[in-house]
Amino acid sequence: MKKSTIINIRSLLVTDASKPLRGKELDKAQWIHDAWLSTEEGIISDFGSMKEFSPSGDESITDADGRLVLPCWCDSHTHLIFAAWREQEFEDRIHGLTYEEIAQRGGGILNSAERLRKATEGELYESAALRLNEMIRLGTGAVEIKSGYGLTLESELKMLRIIRKIKETFPIPVKATFLGAHAVPAEFKNNKPGYLKLIKEQMIPAVAAEGLADFCDVFCERGYFTKDETLEILIHAADYGMVPKVHANQLSHSGGIEAGTSCNAISVDHLEFTSDRDLQLLAESETIATLLPAAAFFLNLQMPAARKLIEHNAVIAAATDFNPGSSPTGNMNLVVSMLCVKAGMTPSEAIHAATLNGAFAMNVQTDCGSLAKGKRANFILTQPMESAAFIPYSLGRNPAGSVFINGQPY
Ligand code: NIG
Ligand code: FE
Repeated sequence: MKKSTIINIRSLLVTDASKPLRGKELDKAQWIHDAWLSTEEGIISDFGSMKEFSPSGDESITDADGRLVLPCWCDSHTHLIFAAWREQEFEDRIHGLTYEEIAQRGGGILNSAERLRKATEGELYESAALRLNEMIRLGTGAVEIKSGYGLTLESELKMLRIIRKIKETFPIPVKATFLGAHAVPAEFKNNKPGYLKLIKEQMIPAVAAEGLADFCDVFCERGYFTKDETLEILIHAADYGMVPKVHANQLSHSGGIEAGTSCNAISVDHLEFTSDRDLQLLAESETIATLLPAAAFFLNLQMPAARKLIEHNAVIAAATDFNPGSSPTGNMNLVVSMLCVKAGMTPSEAIHAATLNGAFAMNVQTDCGSLAKGKRANFILTQPMESAAFIPYSLGRNPAGSVFINGQPY
C-alpha cells in the first residue's frame, strides 16, 4: 500500500496525550487549520499545515476541499451481540412500567438471555456484524463488546467466541468483556450464591483458559449485584488477568463507583446517580467515568452530572451502551449531541470523551483515539462543515462524509 495524503483539510484534530484528559483539559482541543495528513501502510505517517506542504511525488492525493478530519470514535461500552430487539418493552415503558418492573416480570436482560440461548453462533455473528458495519459507517473505529446475555457457562462462552470471531474478521480494534454478572438467571432465582459460585469457579476460569476476555464487568445495581458481590467477582477475575469494569449507579446509588475505584477498575460506566463522595473518589483515582447518555435518554432517566464531574477533575469518556433494552443505538454522533445538549458538555469536551478518553477506557490508546504519528489511520473525513460544533449540532444525521479504517475508505 503506498502513501496517501489528504490535503486542504479545513481543520485537523490533533489533540494527543499520554494520559486520558482530566477535568478542564477535556475542553482544550488542538486543531491544525488548513492542514494535510499522510498515511502509509494503514498508519498515520505525518501531518502538518498546508503552508509547509510539499508533495513527495509518489503519493495518491485526495482533496478534502475544506472538510474536517478527526479520529474515529472509540466506543468503549456495547452489548452488540444479541438475538432480538425488545420494542415491546419500549412500548410497555410508554404505558408506565419502569425498566426495573419489566425486569421483575422476566423481561429485560433475562428476556434477551432466553432468546440468545436459542440462537446459533452463525445467526448471532451475522446480526452483530451488520450492526458493527453500520457503526463504522457512522464513524466508529474501535469497539468494546460484552457478553452477559448468556448467563450459563455454555452461552457466555458462545457470546465470547463470537466476539473473538468479530476481532478476527473486522479491521478495527475490538475488545471483549466477560459480563456473566449481568443478571441472576431464572434457574438461580432463589439461589444467588449458587450463581456467584458458578461465575467464580467455572465461568471465569473457562473464559481465561481460552483467553476470551480482556475485561470483566458486573452490573452493580439494586436487584442485580451488590457492591460486595461486585468486588468479589472483579477481584477474582483480576487474578485471571481480566481488568475490572463496572456498570455503576445507573438506577440508584448502588456503590458501583466505590467498588470500581477500590479495585482500580479501568472504568465505571453510567453514573446517573453520583454522590459527593463518588465525585471525590473519581477525582482521586485513575478510573475513567464513562457516560452513556443514550441509555439515560432512552430510559428517560436523569443525565449523569457531567459538569460536576469536570469540576471535580474526573476523567470522562463517552460510549453508546448499544443494547436492545436501554440503548438501541450504536451512533456515537448522537451520544456526542446528547452530552452537549443534555449534560452541558462543550463540543470539544464531548468529542475528546468519545475519542481519546474512550480509547483509554478500552485500552486501545496506543493504536486509536487520536491522530498521532504511528497510530492507526482510523479517521472521519466529515461532510462539508465549518467547525466541529456542527457534529453535535447536526442532530441524528451522519456527519461523516467518509470513514477511513487503516487508511482505506470503509
Ligand atoms: O448497560 N444496565 C445493564 N445493562 C445494560 C442494559 C441491558 C439490557 O437491558 O439488555 C445497560 O443499560
Ligand atoms: Fe451496558
